[in-house]
Amino acid sequence: MAQSITITDNRTGDSVEIPIDNGSVAAGDWRKLLPNVWFYDEALMTTAMTESAITYLDGDAGILRYRGYPIEQLAESSTYLEVAYLLIHGELPTADQYSAWVHDITYHTFIHENVRKRFLEGFHYDAHPMGMLVSAIAALSTFYPESKDIFDADVRQKQIVRLIAKMPTLAAACHRFSVGMPFVYPDNSLSFAENFLSMLFKVAEPRYDADPRLSKALDLLFILHADHEQNCGTTAMRVVGSAHADPYSAAAAAAAALYGPRHGGANEAVIHMLTEIGSTENVPAFVQAVKAGHGRLQGFGHRVYKNYDPRAKIIKRAADDVFAVTGKNPLLDIALKLEEVALSDDYFISRKLYPNVDFYSGLIYQAMGFPIEMFTVLFAIPRMSGWLAHWVELLEQDQKIVRPRQVYTGAEERSYVPVAQRS
Ligand code: ACO
Repeated sequence: MAQSITITDNRTGDSVEIPIDNGSVAAGDWRKLLPNVWFYDEALMTTAMTESAITYLDGDAGILRYRGYPIEQLAESSTYLEVAYLLIHGELPTADQYSAWVHDITYHTFIHENVRKRFLEGFHYDAHPMGMLVSAIAALSTFYPESKDIFDADVRQKQIVRLIAKMPTLAAACHRFSVGMPFVYPDNSLSFAENFLSMLFKVAEPRYDADPRLSKALDLLFILHADHEQNCGTTAMRVVGSAHADPYSAAAAAAAALYGPRHGGANEAVIHMLTEIGSTENVPAFVQAVKAGHGRLQGFGHRVYKNYDPRAKIIKRAADDVFAVTGKNPLLDIALKLEEVALSDDYFISRKLYPNVDFYSGLIYQAMGFPIEMFTVLFAIPRMSGWLAHWVELLEQDQKIVRPRQVYTGAEERSYVPVAQRS
Protein backbone atom coordinates (compact mmCIF):
# COMPACT_ATOMS: atom_id res chain seq x y z
CA MET A 1 0.00 0.00 0.00
CA ALA A 2 1.46 3.36 -1.04
CA GLN A 3 2.08 5.69 1.92
CA SER A 4 0.93 8.74 -0.02
CA ILE A 5 -2.10 10.64 -1.26
CA THR A 6 -2.71 11.90 -4.77
CA ILE A 7 -4.44 15.22 -5.39
CA THR A 8 -5.81 15.91 -8.85
CA ASP A 9 -6.90 19.36 -10.00
CA ASN A 10 -9.88 18.44 -12.19
CA ARG A 11 -9.78 21.86 -13.87
CA THR A 12 -6.44 21.09 -15.45
CA GLY A 13 -5.98 17.35 -14.95
CA ASP A 14 -2.69 17.99 -13.11
CA SER A 15 -1.90 15.65 -10.21
CA VAL A 16 0.55 15.60 -7.41
CA GLU A 17 1.47 12.62 -5.22
CA ILE A 18 2.37 13.62 -1.68
CA PRO A 19 4.02 11.19 0.75
CA ILE A 20 2.36 10.59 4.14
CA ASP A 21 5.19 11.14 6.56
CA ASN A 22 4.76 10.69 10.31
CA GLY A 23 0.96 10.83 9.95
CA SER A 24 0.93 14.08 7.99
CA VAL A 25 1.20 15.38 4.45
CA ALA A 26 3.30 18.45 3.75
CA ALA A 27 1.38 21.46 2.43
CA GLY A 28 4.30 22.66 0.29
CA ASP A 29 3.63 20.06 -2.42
CA TRP A 30 -0.06 20.82 -2.93
CA ARG A 31 0.59 24.57 -2.77
CA LYS A 32 2.58 24.22 -6.00
CA LEU A 33 -0.32 22.39 -7.66
CA LEU A 34 -3.10 24.59 -6.29
CA PRO A 35 -1.91 28.19 -5.98
CA ASN A 36 -4.61 30.45 -4.46
CA VAL A 37 -6.75 27.51 -3.30
CA TRP A 38 -7.01 27.35 0.49
CA PHE A 39 -7.84 24.36 2.62
CA TYR A 40 -10.67 25.46 4.87
CA ASP A 41 -10.02 23.93 8.29
CA GLU A 42 -12.07 25.60 11.00
CA ALA A 43 -10.09 26.03 14.25
CA LEU A 44 -7.19 24.10 12.65
CA MET A 45 -8.84 20.86 13.70
CA THR A 46 -7.01 18.79 11.07
CA THR A 47 -3.95 20.97 10.59
CA ALA A 48 -0.54 20.39 12.18
CA MET A 49 0.93 23.90 12.42
CA THR A 50 4.40 22.83 13.39
CA GLU A 51 6.81 19.99 14.00
CA SER A 52 7.59 19.59 17.68
CA ALA A 53 9.85 17.36 19.75
CA ILE A 54 8.51 18.38 23.16
CA THR A 55 5.33 16.50 24.07
CA TYR A 56 3.85 13.32 22.63
CA LEU A 57 0.13 12.81 23.05
CA ASP A 58 -2.03 9.95 21.84
CA GLY A 59 -5.57 10.93 22.72
CA ASP A 60 -7.13 7.60 21.73
CA ALA A 61 -4.75 5.58 23.86
CA GLY A 62 -4.60 8.11 26.73
CA ILE A 63 -0.81 8.53 26.45
CA LEU A 64 1.12 11.66 27.44
CA ARG A 65 4.92 11.93 27.40
CA TYR A 66 7.25 14.88 27.90
CA ARG A 67 10.41 14.50 25.77
CA GLY A 68 9.68 10.76 25.62
CA TYR A 69 9.20 10.23 29.36
CA PRO A 70 5.73 8.91 30.36
CA ILE A 71 3.82 11.40 32.50
CA GLU A 72 3.18 8.63 35.07
CA GLN A 73 6.95 8.18 35.65
CA LEU A 74 7.60 11.90 35.90
CA ALA A 75 4.69 12.27 38.32
CA GLU A 76 6.06 9.45 40.45
CA SER A 77 9.75 10.38 40.54
CA SER A 78 10.46 13.91 39.32
CA THR A 79 9.95 17.47 40.53
CA TYR A 80 8.34 20.37 38.70
CA LEU A 81 11.65 22.22 38.28
CA GLU A 82 13.32 19.11 36.87
CA VAL A 83 10.41 18.72 34.44
CA ALA A 84 10.69 22.39 33.46
CA TYR A 85 14.39 21.83 32.69
CA LEU A 86 13.52 18.72 30.68
CA LEU A 87 10.90 20.54 28.62
CA ILE A 88 13.16 23.46 27.81
CA HIS A 89 16.50 21.69 27.33
CA GLY A 90 15.23 18.38 25.94
CA GLU A 91 17.09 16.17 28.45
CA LEU A 92 16.88 15.49 32.15
CA PRO A 93 19.56 17.51 33.98
CA THR A 94 22.66 16.00 35.57
CA ALA A 95 22.98 16.59 39.33
CA ASP A 96 25.16 19.68 38.72
CA GLN A 97 22.87 21.06 36.03
CA TYR A 98 19.88 20.53 38.27
CA SER A 99 21.36 22.31 41.28
CA ALA A 100 22.48 25.24 39.08
CA TRP A 101 18.99 25.43 37.55
CA VAL A 102 17.23 25.32 40.94
CA HIS A 103 19.64 27.98 42.24
CA ASP A 104 19.00 30.24 39.23
CA ILE A 105 15.22 29.91 39.52
CA THR A 106 15.31 30.45 43.29
CA TYR A 107 17.38 33.63 42.93
CA HIS A 108 15.11 35.18 40.31
CA THR A 109 11.85 34.97 42.25
CA PHE A 110 11.81 38.61 43.34
CA ILE A 111 9.85 41.08 41.26
CA HIS A 112 10.78 44.72 40.80
CA GLU A 113 9.10 46.74 43.55
CA ASN A 114 7.39 48.88 40.93
CA VAL A 115 5.66 45.85 39.39
CA ARG A 116 3.87 45.48 42.69
CA LYS A 117 3.56 49.08 43.91
CA ARG A 118 2.83 50.97 40.72
CA PHE A 119 1.28 48.26 38.66
CA LEU A 120 -0.43 45.48 40.63
CA GLU A 121 -1.67 47.80 43.34
CA GLY A 122 -3.30 49.95 40.66
CA PHE A 123 -5.96 47.32 40.02
CA HIS A 124 -9.48 47.68 41.33
CA TYR A 125 -9.88 45.98 44.74
CA ASP A 126 -11.95 43.10 43.35
CA ALA A 127 -9.88 42.45 40.20
CA HIS A 128 -9.82 38.80 39.11
CA PRO A 129 -6.33 37.43 39.89
CA MET A 130 -6.05 35.86 36.42
CA GLY A 131 -6.77 39.21 34.76
CA MET A 132 -4.09 40.73 36.97
CA LEU A 133 -1.63 37.95 36.15
CA VAL A 134 -2.08 38.27 32.38
CA SER A 135 -1.39 42.00 32.59
CA ALA A 136 1.51 41.59 35.00
CA ILE A 137 3.27 39.11 32.69
CA ALA A 138 2.95 41.57 29.80
CA ALA A 139 4.14 44.45 32.02
CA LEU A 140 7.38 42.60 32.81
CA SER A 141 8.55 43.21 29.23
CA THR A 142 8.82 46.92 30.07
CA PHE A 143 11.07 46.10 33.02
CA TYR A 144 13.39 43.94 30.89
CA PRO A 145 13.67 45.77 27.56
CA GLU A 146 16.72 43.66 26.60
CA SER A 147 14.30 40.73 26.28
CA LYS A 148 13.54 41.93 22.74
CA ASP A 149 16.93 40.54 21.77
CA ILE A 150 15.43 37.11 21.22
CA PHE A 151 18.27 35.70 19.10
CA ASP A 152 20.89 36.18 21.81
CA ALA A 153 21.06 32.80 23.57
CA ASP A 154 22.13 34.26 26.94
CA VAL A 155 19.41 36.91 26.92
CA ARG A 156 16.87 34.27 25.99
CA GLN A 157 17.97 31.98 28.80
CA LYS A 158 17.79 34.84 31.31
CA GLN A 159 14.17 35.59 30.41
CA ILE A 160 13.26 31.90 30.65
CA VAL A 161 14.63 31.74 34.18
CA ARG A 162 12.92 35.00 35.10
CA LEU A 163 9.54 33.98 33.78
CA ILE A 164 9.50 30.54 35.43
CA ALA A 165 10.82 31.99 38.70
CA LYS A 166 8.52 35.00 38.89
CA MET A 167 5.26 33.26 38.08
CA PRO A 168 4.60 32.08 41.69
CA THR A 169 5.57 35.51 43.03
CA LEU A 170 3.20 37.31 40.64
CA ALA A 171 0.46 34.74 41.22
CA ALA A 172 0.73 35.05 45.01
CA ALA A 173 0.84 38.85 44.77
CA CYS A 174 -2.39 38.83 42.72
CA HIS A 175 -4.03 36.59 45.32
CA ARG A 176 -2.88 38.64 48.33
CA PHE A 177 -4.06 41.82 46.69
CA SER A 178 -7.46 40.34 45.86
CA VAL A 179 -8.01 39.29 49.51
CA GLY A 180 -6.56 42.47 50.99
CA MET A 181 -3.47 40.87 52.53
CA PRO A 182 0.05 42.35 52.42
CA PHE A 183 2.56 41.06 49.86
CA VAL A 184 4.92 38.32 51.11
CA TYR A 185 8.48 38.33 49.75
CA PRO A 186 9.96 35.09 48.39
CA ASP A 187 11.92 32.94 50.85
CA ASN A 188 14.99 31.47 49.13
CA SER A 189 15.35 28.73 51.75
CA LEU A 190 12.16 27.07 50.51
CA SER A 191 11.48 24.84 47.53
CA PHE A 192 9.49 26.15 44.54
CA ALA A 193 6.12 24.85 45.80
CA GLU A 194 6.85 25.60 49.49
CA ASN A 195 7.84 29.15 48.62
CA PHE A 196 4.63 29.64 46.65
CA LEU A 197 2.52 28.39 49.56
CA SER A 198 4.46 30.70 51.90
CA MET A 199 3.84 33.73 49.68
CA LEU A 200 0.15 32.84 49.56
CA PHE A 201 -0.66 31.93 53.13
CA LYS A 202 2.01 33.41 55.46
CA VAL A 203 0.57 35.68 58.11
CA ALA A 204 2.88 36.75 60.99
CA GLU A 205 5.04 33.67 61.56
CA PRO A 206 8.81 34.20 60.91
CA ARG A 207 8.85 31.33 58.40
CA TYR A 208 5.90 29.56 56.81
CA ASP A 209 6.40 25.80 56.68
CA ALA A 210 3.72 24.22 54.53
CA ASP A 211 2.62 20.66 55.26
CA PRO A 212 5.05 18.60 53.10
CA ARG A 213 2.16 16.50 51.78
CA LEU A 214 0.50 19.64 50.42
CA SER A 215 3.66 21.07 48.83
CA LYS A 216 4.34 17.65 47.26
CA ALA A 217 0.79 17.49 45.88
CA LEU A 218 1.12 21.01 44.48
CA ASP A 219 4.44 20.13 42.86
CA LEU A 220 2.77 17.06 41.32
CA LEU A 221 -0.04 19.21 39.92
CA PHE A 222 2.62 21.54 38.47
CA ILE A 223 4.27 18.56 36.71
CA LEU A 224 0.94 17.45 35.23
CA HIS A 225 0.11 20.92 33.93
CA ALA A 226 3.56 21.82 32.58
CA ASP A 227 2.88 21.11 28.91
CA HIS A 228 0.22 19.72 26.61
CA GLU A 229 1.56 20.25 23.08
CA GLN A 230 -0.43 22.52 20.72
CA ASN A 231 -3.31 23.53 23.00
CA CYS A 232 -4.98 26.92 22.63
CA GLY A 233 -2.60 28.80 24.98
CA THR A 234 0.55 27.25 23.53
CA THR A 235 -0.69 28.02 20.04
CA ALA A 236 -1.19 31.63 21.13
CA MET A 237 2.42 31.62 22.40
CA ARG A 238 3.63 30.30 19.05
CA VAL A 239 1.50 32.71 17.03
CA VAL A 240 2.70 35.79 18.91
CA GLY A 241 6.23 34.39 19.19
CA SER A 242 6.31 33.91 15.41
CA ALA A 243 6.00 37.69 15.08
CA HIS A 244 9.24 37.88 17.14
CA ALA A 245 7.58 39.62 20.07
CA ASP A 246 9.52 39.44 23.33
CA PRO A 247 8.74 36.36 25.49
CA TYR A 248 6.78 38.33 28.13
CA SER A 249 4.33 39.66 25.54
CA ALA A 250 3.99 36.23 23.92
CA ALA A 251 3.47 34.54 27.31
CA ALA A 252 0.83 37.13 28.25
CA ALA A 253 -1.09 36.14 25.10
CA ALA A 254 -0.80 32.48 26.05
CA ALA A 255 -2.03 33.22 29.59
CA ALA A 256 -4.95 35.20 28.15
CA ALA A 257 -5.99 32.16 26.12
CA LEU A 258 -5.72 29.97 29.21
CA TYR A 259 -8.10 32.33 31.04
CA GLY A 260 -11.00 31.18 28.82
CA PRO A 261 -13.56 28.77 30.34
CA ARG A 262 -13.17 26.34 27.45
CA HIS A 263 -9.48 26.03 28.31
CA GLY A 264 -7.83 26.65 31.70
CA GLY A 265 -10.97 28.10 33.25
CA ALA A 266 -12.76 24.74 33.25
CA ASN A 267 -11.76 23.64 36.76
CA GLU A 268 -13.39 26.78 38.10
CA ALA A 269 -16.54 25.83 36.17
CA VAL A 270 -16.38 22.30 37.66
CA ILE A 271 -16.65 23.62 41.21
CA HIS A 272 -19.57 25.87 40.26
CA MET A 273 -21.26 22.89 38.61
CA LEU A 274 -20.72 20.53 41.59
CA THR A 275 -21.95 23.21 43.99
CA GLU A 276 -25.05 23.74 41.87
CA ILE A 277 -25.76 19.97 41.80
CA GLY A 278 -25.63 20.09 45.60
CA SER A 279 -25.99 16.39 46.46
CA THR A 280 -25.46 12.95 44.96
CA GLU A 281 -29.24 12.39 44.61
CA ASN A 282 -29.41 15.25 42.11
CA VAL A 283 -26.71 13.77 39.85
CA PRO A 284 -28.93 11.63 37.55
CA ALA A 285 -31.28 14.57 36.89
CA PHE A 286 -28.33 16.84 36.16
CA VAL A 287 -26.88 14.34 33.69
CA GLN A 288 -30.28 14.04 32.00
CA ALA A 289 -30.42 17.84 31.65
CA VAL A 290 -26.96 17.89 30.05
CA LYS A 291 -28.03 15.17 27.63
CA ALA A 292 -31.09 17.24 26.76
CA GLY A 293 -28.78 20.07 25.72
CA HIS A 294 -28.80 22.18 28.90
CA GLY A 295 -25.12 23.01 29.29
CA ARG A 296 -22.15 20.67 29.43
CA LEU A 297 -20.57 18.44 32.01
CA GLN A 298 -17.66 20.66 32.99
CA GLY A 299 -14.34 18.81 33.26
CA PHE A 300 -15.54 16.22 30.76
CA GLY A 301 -14.47 15.81 27.16
CA HIS A 302 -11.38 16.98 25.37
CA ARG A 303 -10.48 17.98 21.84
CA VAL A 304 -7.67 15.44 21.77
CA TYR A 305 -8.34 12.81 24.45
CA LYS A 306 -10.98 10.32 23.43
CA ASN A 307 -10.07 8.19 26.42
CA TYR A 308 -9.48 8.83 30.14
CA ASP A 309 -7.07 11.78 30.42
CA PRO A 310 -3.96 10.19 32.02
CA ARG A 311 -3.47 13.32 34.13
CA ALA A 312 -6.97 12.98 35.59
CA LYS A 313 -6.11 9.45 36.78
CA ILE A 314 -2.99 10.69 38.61
CA ILE A 315 -4.83 13.67 40.12
CA LYS A 316 -7.67 11.46 41.34
CA ARG A 317 -5.13 9.38 43.31
CA ALA A 318 -3.33 12.49 44.64
CA ALA A 319 -6.62 13.85 45.96
CA ASP A 320 -6.60 11.22 48.72
CA ASP A 321 -3.21 12.44 50.00
CA VAL A 322 -4.46 16.02 50.10
CA PHE A 323 -7.76 15.16 51.76
CA ALA A 324 -5.82 13.22 54.44
CA VAL A 325 -4.41 16.62 55.49
CA THR A 326 -7.28 18.97 54.75
CA GLY A 327 -10.30 16.74 55.33
CA LYS A 328 -12.40 15.52 52.41
CA ASN A 329 -13.83 18.09 50.07
CA PRO A 330 -17.61 17.62 50.46
CA LEU A 331 -18.00 17.96 46.69
CA LEU A 332 -15.89 14.84 46.10
CA ASP A 333 -18.80 12.43 46.53
CA ILE A 334 -20.83 14.36 43.96
CA ALA A 335 -17.88 14.28 41.54
CA LEU A 336 -17.42 10.53 41.98
CA LYS A 337 -21.12 9.90 41.46
CA LEU A 338 -21.15 12.14 38.40
CA GLU A 339 -18.23 10.26 36.89
CA GLU A 340 -19.90 6.91 37.63
CA VAL A 341 -23.22 7.96 36.08
CA ALA A 342 -21.65 9.60 33.03
CA LEU A 343 -19.24 6.77 32.29
CA SER A 344 -22.08 4.25 32.23
CA ASP A 345 -24.29 6.40 30.00
CA ASP A 346 -24.37 5.81 26.26
CA TYR A 347 -24.40 9.57 25.50
CA PHE A 348 -20.94 9.99 27.05
CA ILE A 349 -19.62 6.58 25.99
CA SER A 350 -20.53 7.05 22.32
CA ARG A 351 -18.97 10.55 22.25
CA LYS A 352 -15.89 9.30 24.12
CA LEU A 353 -16.31 11.90 26.85
CA TYR A 354 -14.13 11.14 29.88
CA PRO A 355 -12.97 13.25 32.84
CA ASN A 356 -10.18 15.62 31.83
CA VAL A 357 -7.41 17.17 33.93
CA ASP A 358 -9.77 19.80 35.30
CA PHE A 359 -12.37 17.47 36.73
CA TYR A 360 -10.54 16.66 39.98
CA SER A 361 -7.88 19.40 40.19
CA GLY A 362 -10.37 22.03 41.37
CA LEU A 363 -11.44 19.81 44.28
CA ILE A 364 -7.83 19.58 45.44
CA TYR A 365 -7.22 23.29 45.05
CA GLN A 366 -10.38 24.12 46.96
CA ALA A 367 -9.47 21.74 49.80
CA MET A 368 -6.01 23.35 49.99
CA GLY A 369 -7.65 26.71 50.64
CA PHE A 370 -7.35 28.34 47.22
CA PRO A 371 -10.22 30.59 46.24
CA ILE A 372 -11.87 29.50 42.99
CA GLU A 373 -10.58 32.58 41.12
CA MET A 374 -7.02 31.30 41.69
CA PHE A 375 -7.50 27.99 39.89
CA THR A 376 -6.49 29.15 36.42
CA VAL A 377 -3.61 31.09 37.94
CA LEU A 378 -2.39 27.80 39.44
CA PHE A 379 -2.55 26.26 35.99
CA ALA A 380 -0.58 29.14 34.43
CA ILE A 381 2.37 28.86 36.85
CA PRO A 382 3.74 25.54 35.54
CA ARG A 383 2.39 25.97 32.00
CA MET A 384 4.90 28.80 31.64
CA SER A 385 7.68 26.21 31.23
CA GLY A 386 5.76 24.52 28.41
CA TRP A 387 5.05 27.84 26.68
CA LEU A 388 8.73 28.75 26.87
CA ALA A 389 9.86 25.36 25.57
CA HIS A 390 7.63 25.89 22.51
CA TRP A 391 8.86 29.46 22.12
CA VAL A 392 12.51 28.33 22.06
CA GLU A 393 11.63 25.54 19.65
CA LEU A 394 9.88 27.87 17.22
CA LEU A 395 12.81 30.31 17.23
CA GLU A 396 15.25 27.44 16.63
CA GLN A 397 13.04 26.24 13.77
CA ASP A 398 13.12 29.78 12.37
CA GLN A 399 9.39 29.38 11.85
CA LYS A 400 7.69 31.85 9.54
CA ILE A 401 5.21 34.34 10.95
CA VAL A 402 1.83 32.64 11.44
CA ARG A 403 -0.56 34.12 8.93
CA PRO A 404 -3.45 31.84 7.95
CA ARG A 405 -5.89 32.52 5.13
CA GLN A 406 -9.64 33.01 5.39
CA VAL A 407 -12.68 32.23 3.28
CA TYR A 408 -14.29 35.64 2.78
CA THR A 409 -18.10 35.57 3.14
CA GLY A 410 -18.88 39.30 3.36
CA ALA A 411 -20.45 41.82 0.98
CA GLU A 412 -19.32 42.33 -2.62
CA GLU A 413 -17.80 45.73 -3.43
CA ARG A 414 -20.32 48.56 -2.87
CA SER A 415 -20.22 52.35 -2.78
CA TYR A 416 -20.07 54.45 0.35
CA VAL A 417 -23.42 56.07 1.26
CA PRO A 418 -23.36 59.43 3.12
CA VAL A 419 -25.15 59.19 6.48
CA ALA A 420 -28.02 61.50 5.43
CA GLN A 421 -28.91 59.12 2.59
CA ARG A 422 -28.99 55.92 4.69
CA SER A 423 -32.37 54.49 5.60
N1 ACO B 1 -20.71 17.60 28.25
C1 ACO B 1 -21.71 17.19 27.44
N2 ACO B 1 -21.56 17.00 26.12
C2 ACO B 1 -20.33 17.26 25.60
C3 ACO B 1 -19.26 17.71 26.39
C4 ACO B 1 -19.47 17.87 27.77
N3 ACO B 1 -18.50 18.29 28.58
N4 ACO B 1 -18.17 17.87 25.61
C5 ACO B 1 -18.55 17.56 24.37
N5 ACO B 1 -19.86 17.18 24.36
C6 ACO B 1 -20.64 16.70 23.22
C7 ACO B 1 -21.05 17.83 22.29
O1 ACO B 1 -22.31 18.37 22.65
C8 ACO B 1 -21.04 17.16 20.95
O2 ACO B 1 -22.22 16.40 20.86
P1 ACO B 1 -22.96 16.26 19.41
O3 ACO B 1 -22.00 15.47 18.58
O4 ACO B 1 -24.24 15.55 19.73
O5 ACO B 1 -23.17 17.65 18.92
C9 ACO B 1 -19.88 16.16 21.05
O6 ACO B 1 -19.76 15.85 22.46
C10 ACO B 1 -18.55 16.72 20.54
O7 ACO B 1 -18.33 17.97 21.18
P2 ACO B 1 -17.45 19.12 20.55
O8 ACO B 1 -17.84 20.41 21.18
O9 ACO B 1 -17.45 19.03 19.06
O10 ACO B 1 -16.00 18.72 21.03
P3 ACO B 1 -14.75 19.65 21.03
O11 ACO B 1 -13.57 18.77 20.77
O12 ACO B 1 -14.92 20.85 20.15
O13 ACO B 1 -14.76 20.22 22.53
C11 ACO B 1 -14.21 20.65 24.77
C12 ACO B 1 -13.81 19.89 23.50
C13 ACO B 1 -14.27 22.16 24.49
C14 ACO B 1 -13.13 20.41 25.84
C15 ACO B 1 -15.59 20.12 25.25
O14 ACO B 1 -15.52 18.74 25.50
C16 ACO B 1 -16.11 20.87 26.48
O15 ACO B 1 -16.73 21.94 26.33
N6 ACO B 1 -15.87 20.33 27.71
C17 ACO B 1 -16.28 21.01 28.92
C18 ACO B 1 -15.27 22.09 29.27
C19 ACO B 1 -13.96 21.51 29.76
O16 ACO B 1 -13.92 20.62 30.60
N7 ACO B 1 -12.83 22.07 29.23
C20 ACO B 1 -11.50 21.69 29.68
C21 ACO B 1 -10.72 21.06 28.59
S1 ACO B 1 -9.16 20.53 29.22
C22 ACO B 1 -8.18 21.92 29.14
O17 ACO B 1 -8.33 22.83 28.39
C23 ACO B 1 -7.10 21.99 30.10
